[in-house]
Amino acid sequence: MNRVFSGIQPTGNIHIGNYLGALKQFAELQNDNECIYCIVDMHAITVPKDPKELNESILNVAALYIACGIDPDKSIVFVQSDVPGHAELGWILTCSSYTGELSRMTQFKQKSKEKESAPTGLFTYPVLMAADILLYDTSIVPVGDDQKQHIELTRDLAVRVNGKYGENTFVVPEGRYMKSGARVMSLDDPTNKMSKSAENEYSRISLLDSPAKIKKSVMRATTDSDGIIKFDVENKPGISNLLSIYSAFTGKTVESLEKDYAGSGYGDFKKDLVEVVNSSVKPIQDKYNDIRESDELKKILKEGAEKANAIAEKTIKRVKENFGLGIR
Ligand code: TYM
Repeated sequence: MNRVFSGIQPTGNIHIGNYLGALKQFAELQNDNECIYCIVDMHAITVPKDPKELNESILNVAALYIACGIDPDKSIVFVQSDVPGHAELGWILTCSSYTGELSRMTQFKQKSKEKESAPTGLFTYPVLMAADILLYDTSIVPVGDDQKQHIELTRDLAVRVNGKYGENTFVVPEGRYMKSGARVMSLDDPTNKMSKSAENEYSRISLLDSPAKIKKSVMRATTDSDGIIKFDVENKPGISNLLSIYSAFTGKTVESLEKDYAGSGYGDFKKDLVEVVNSSVKPIQDKYNDIRESDELKKILKEGAEKANAIAEKTIKRVKENFGLGIR
């Protein structure tokens, strides 16, 4: 069985990009793999957070994990800061990383843009992410397209450390990306990815949005003026994004959708897409409401942390031995 690891930041507004790019894969993978899914709260504090809101968000994301089909009897679900090995390995890896490679990370460049000085945590963010992954001898990391560069860095760090401290130190992981859904774009500006933090709430569809809000977001999504439903990212990014979303939710290919909607207008297509999205998120929302306030949720996270910690401790012991750290 392969070990699978992934994480999501508890930052509210979990949207259909997070779902189609990542969460949807999480549930699919758990039957044939040993899966570990984490709520990465220590990554969330790289940008200052209100403590109360952060704590709520941790439980919201945990409930969404379960609502999206992660079964705690099959997969380990836990909160990053409950397992000390993440921070420990984060530091050890920081010492094997270079400022040059971290300065090249697109996400860091975007987040620190136009700032004279950026929080150090934002800079070392990808090293902590590498620690998350390598701590569990992970071979597969299901993520969206935007994490590709971080996964490459993780692989580089693993190979570098193995070369210096012993080939048994880390398993070198691989990213896993969905064919459709790996990069869901913003609804108001389809040249940018859908984001949790964009100011315009209609630029995204959050998994917990009401049917009315979903309708409004889809119906006002940016398209173009030629009225032809055709997949052409370069010239028709808006309608191409909507076709991808439709395809990712239904499993129908983009080509078959183009045929089905040949001759239809954008309005009719969008109306159908509203139905598709609403009927897909409804069961998730129902399950979320059942689990969010239940005592069960914290129990799942506590047990998950114990299981994760047992694996993490073994890795930390091996890594410390290889690096010559501590008393032996
Ligand atoms: P985060 O919390 O920003 O996003 C969670 C997951 O959603 C994917 N995603 C998208 N997929 C498709 N279209 C989009 N518009 C879109 N926006 C986000 C992300 O690729 C991600 O898979 N650094 C990570 C969290 C993390 C992590 C890890 C992931 C920390 N440690 C270890 C994997 C393994 C992040 O910020 O994800």
